[in-house]
Amino acid sequence: MRRLSVSRDRIRIVLTESIHPRAVQALRDAGYVNIETLAGAPNEDTLRRLLAEAHILGIRSQTKLSAQAIAAARRLFCIGCFCIGTNHVDADAAKRKGIPVFNAPYANTRSVAELVVGEIVMLMRRVPEKSALAHQGIWRKTATGAHEVRGRTLGIVGYGHIGSQLSVLAEAIGMRVRYFDIIDKLALGNATPVRSLGELLAHADVVSLHVPDTTATRGMIGAAEIAQMRAGAILINAARGSVVDIDALAAALSDGRIAGAAVDVFPREPGSGDERLTTPLQGLPNVILTPHVGGSTEEAQANIGVEVADKLVTYSDNGSTAGAVNFVEVALPVQQGVTRFLHIHRNVPGVLTRVNQVFSQRELNIAAQYLRTDSEVGYMVSDIDGRLEEGRGIRRELEAIEGTIRSRFLY
Ligand code: NAI
Repeated sequence: MRRLSVSRDRIRIVLTESIHPRAVQALRDAGYVNIETLAGAPNEDTLRRLLAEAHILGIRSQTKLSAQAIAAARRLFCIGCFCIGTNHVDADAAKRKGIPVFNAPYANTRSVAELVVGEIVMLMRRVPEKSALAHQGIWRKTATGAHEVRGRTLGIVGYGHIGSQLSVLAEAIGMRVRYFDIIDKLALGNATPVRSLGELLAHADVVSLHVPDTTATRGMIGAAEIAQMRAGAILINAARGSVVDIDALAAALSDGRIAGAAVDVFPREPGSGDERLTTPLQGLPNVILTPHVGGSTEEAQANIGVEVADKLVTYSDNGSTAGAVNFVEVALPVQQGVTRFLHIHRNVPGVLTRVNQVFSQRELNIAAQYLRTDSEVGYMVSDIDGRLEEGRGIRRELEAIEGTIRSRFLY
């Protein structure tokens, strides 16, 4: 196993917010044993202490990392967000301190796809309505309006990670799949692309939305689009609340043009369990409302734990920033018999030359070199032949170069 300029047992890792035990295990398996775990989100004082001590910090979505908090971090060299989004972290401030931020954007893809499949079956059978009545003691035993999904057409809007997974699952239960995406996407199985949203809406028995929140998708499904849908069709939104005009959907459900809907995301979502959800969809028959839990499963949490822990280990062990949300991405091969210097610097002229001078003055041979920059920060990785004893001295020289943010070496 490659050695690091700070040895693995001295790398202090702090994981807050009850990060899944699989993450701890993955880190331990990789030789990182100096791990502190916290149950909840740390308060400001605790966070300050953690940031002063930690080399690696793992958080979930409740710990906010402001520029000010990040500025106080002395040793921190990477951050793991054990969640999907990273809006609660000032990722640019982290980048300027040479700290990559990693997350797990697709660890819950399958969870969302499975929920949607379940909802399609439930809505086609009008189960939400029948279940609500049965809870009141009403025995509505009828086949009217209840359908098998076999042979029905599912229209998927956005054929990305979730949309394409859903496509495979839906075909497995006998549905015909059509999809619309703004990018040419490889069709899985027997799914077929259509050329426009209108074409998709006109042909689908169930429309399921899996697009991101962009200026183009905001309000993408309004009254005009709902009017283009087949009479008696079903709409599912587990993407983002901004995509659907919820008043228009409520109106179409009320007058029966749309036979059912499942909505997991809302234009305004409660910030916590103390707040109430208010939506015009409440009380309408054959409507499934869920509190943004499409991706919320224990399996997804475990996947997130392993995925983010692996990214942190890969960066720490190897220097690869692949998958970082705020950093130039460098996917590095594992090199044997070299000492690898990682140099993060402000993107100012002359740094490259001065880094190479450090090596050439010592008559060292550069076996491979990688450089990626954005407008603010550059990341230069130099593999030098041999496992060098003088790594620390070289590192000191590299850190003296003007513009250097931080450096490490692996040997
Ligand atoms: P993705 O980025 O893999 O796929 C999105 C797809 O939408 C891409 O293929 C893209 O080309 C396409 N697209 C973008 N703009 C479009 C447009 N105007 N018209 C048609 N297609 C368009 O994203 P992923 O992971 O599949 O997620 C999809 C959505 O699901 C996102 O909004 C995400 O926030 C949401 N999501 C919801 C969760 C929940 O708990 N309900 C959990 C995870 C994701």
